Amino acid sequence: MPEPGREIMDRVGALIDETGCERTQLLEVLHRVQAEFQHIPRAAAEAIEQRMNVPVADTYGLVTFYDLLTEHPVGRSVLRICEDVPCCLHGSDQMAEEAAKRLGPEGEPSADGGVSWTRCACLGLCDKAPAALWREQPLAPLKVHDIEGIGDSHA
Ligand code: FES
Repeated sequence: MPEPGREIMDRVGALIDETGCERTQLLEVLHRVQAEFQHIPRAAAEAIEQRMNVPVADTYGLVTFYDLLTEHPVGRSVLRICEDVPCCLHGSDQMAEEAAKRLGPEGEPSADGGVSWTRCACLGLCDKAPAALWREQPLAPLKVHDIEGIGDSHA
């Protein structure tokens, strides 16, 4: 039986084959890895280094820069609540409190791995504050009952 890191490297190698191994393809590869593993595992960064000639440090530089990528596992579906000023002025802090109450600690996947939530930077939906993304789709203005619905479907 292959070790888990080897399996991840093989799978990421297949994703790179499908996507392309040019450095310009890196972000697309990372989005596909994130979608499949709910984070960017170390073994994925190593596979990217081997196959795309991108140092692990450069990959993690991107991962820590973009809100949509993460080093730590998140839920298969993520609620992203904007925390920038316009959304704060329209109650995003209260929405984050509600998310913590209904969905658990920020950044931690639910017991079934189905959902997690996080704060994020401006989503470009300031006119509909407080804004959020749910499954990468706008949810704005975000309401308490939206969060209740998400929590109930993963209770
Ligand atoms: S400040 Fe929240 S969407 Fe722009």
